[in-house]
This record gives sequence, C-alpha cells and structure tokens, in this order.
Amino acid sequence: MVSMGVNFAPRRSGVFDLVEEIGELKRARNAVILAHNYQVPAIQDIADYVGDSLGLSYKAAETDAEVILFCGVHFMAETAKIINPAKRVLLPDLDAGCSLSESCPPEKLAAFLERHRDKDYYVIAYINCSAGVKALSDVICTSGNAEKIVAAAPRDRNILFVPDQNLGAWVIERTGRQMDLWQGNCYVHVEFTARSIGRIHEQFPNAPVVAHPECPFAVRLLADEVCSTEKMVSYCRQSPAHDIIIVTEAGMLHRLRKEVPGKNFIPGPTDHCACAECRFMKMNTLEKAHAALLNMAPEITLDEGLRKRAEAPILRMLELSR
Ligand code: 13P
Ligand code: SF4
Repeated sequence: MVSMGVNFAPRRSGVFDLVEEIGELKRARNAVILAHNYQVPAIQDIADYVGDSLGLSYKAAETDAEVILFCGVHFMAETAKIINPAKRVLLPDLDAGCSLSESCPPEKLAAFLERHRDKDYYVIAYINCSAGVKALSDVICTSGNAEKIVAAAPRDRNILFVPDQNLGAWVIERTGRQMDLWQGNCYVHVEFTARSIGRIHEQFPNAPVVAHPECPFAVRLLADEVCSTEKMVSYCRQSPAHDIIIVTEAGMLHRLRKEVPGKNFIPGPTDHCACAECRFMKMNTLEKAHAALLNMAPEITLDEGLRKRAEAPILRMLELSR
C-alpha cells in the first residue's frame, strides 16, 4: 500500500541516494523489481530477482506484490501484465522493444494463417512477441523450455514456429520435430559469426563456447553449450574451465562475474566489436526505474479481450514446463 503523506520527490542525487530512494519507494508501493539478465549492472544490483524470460514469467506469476517494476523489454513486461491483470506493471522505458518481436506483427501472422488455413497450424510462439501474436498462438515457449514445449506439441498437427528462425532451427535439431519457421531474428545475436567466434576461440583454445540459441547455425555449431541465459549461469558454475567464452548480449557478463567469481568470462565478439549490446535492453536506466516507481508510469495497459486470448497460451506453457 502506498503510504500517504510521504514526499517521494527525488531529494538527493548520486547513484547511492537513488538506490536508497528506490528501496523506499519499493516498500511504500509494495513493489517487486524484476530484471532480465541483459539489464545494466546498476539495475541488476537493485532487483529482487534477475533471470531469463522463463524465470521472470514464473516470478511474475507468483508474486504477491501489488506493483511489478519490470526492468526488461516491452514484451516481457506485457507478459507479466497478461498473467497479472489486477497488478500494476511498470516498464522504465516504454520504447524498450525487441527486433524479434517487431519481425512478426500480429496482422502479418493473422494473414499468413488465413492464407494457409489448409495447414491447420499449431502455432508455437517464442515469448519474444507481442500480446497480439500470443493471442494467435496455441502455446508460448522461451529459450529455457523450447525443447520441452515443442516435444509436447500434438503429433498430428503441422507446427508453425514464430518469430525466431534460429531458435526454431535449433529446436528442430534437438527434437527432430518438423516445423515451419517464421523468418524473424534478433539483430544482436545474428551479428555473431563463425569467423568472429572462431577467432576468439583460437586465442582461448581451452575455453568452452557457450551460445544463446538465437545465434545463427554456424555459431551454434562452434558452441560447446547452447542454452538460455539462465542455464548459462548453471553451466558456468559447474564447468571446470577457468576461461569461458560467452556468446550473447553483453549484460550477461555482469551476472556471471557476480555469481560465478574467480572465472574469466570472455565476451564473444561480433565481426565489428566486442560490445554486443541490445539497444532496447539498455534503454532502461536506474534514473528511469526510480522515476517509474515515483510516478507509477509508464504503465503497461491491455485490452481485456486481447489479454485473455494471450493468457491461455502462456498458462499452457507455465503448466507444461513445470
Ligand atoms: P532468455 O530467455 O534466454 O534470457 O532470452 C531472452 C532474450 O531476449 C534473448 O535475446
Ligand atoms: Fe530482442 Fe534481441 Fe534484444 Fe533479446 S537481445 S530483447 S531478442 S532484440
């Protein structure tokens, strides 16, 4: 409950003061702060939970806080709102989108399904998509449970996997299930190439390569482990290797260095640089997180009909991946 009569106007400046004020606001608002592994270190450090899309979905489903400050990108906060209609869900920057999500507009998917009605597609949507796409899907998956969800799809149906062609191709390899793939991708992960990862591997020949499944086939082929960002943490913790090459968005390195100390995490370079940053994830800052809790905005709102249609495939996923 927001305590009345308390002045929440920013009183001080400096990172430490901001962190302190965020803590005060959080308590006053009865809020929980959820952050994705790609968020800037300052946000990861103030979050109640930092994780991948799957972990964040479970946390959002389980929380009894009245307010969720979701530090991630829009589809993640929207997913939290879909499964928590009575809670207020805030996103520090409403423009924090996702290139994968944008690659599959709901109208295009609806038109595609209409054109291919004869296929009677069972639609599996990677969680990196809008509520409109979720509403057109039978089940949602994340990189952490995609194998399980695809393996559980009905055997007598054609499967359409949207929107990530790389994750989709990886799941086909792992499950042997045939699927038609929407031709979308993540603009960050497709920047990694066999050449750029091969080169860093030559410098660290004993370092295992850990890559996200949104990477292209040629990069996945070079990887010792392909997994979600959360599984990267457990893989690195268990690995006897001292040097490990991490092929995903650069924010991941903060979590790894913090939770698996004493190891050398080497950011997988792209052909142009070693700073694979998602510009959408980096739109959120500590200042914007503070402002969101102070102003209770920007807030995620959704049409109730759409929300209900988008909720069913998410709940199916949460049930199937337990
Ligand atoms: P994870 O669910 O593995 O964290 O992936 C989310 C994402 O957006 C990767 O680009
Ligand atoms: Fe989307 Fe790629 Fe950014 Fe992940 S890293 S949020 S898939 S644009």
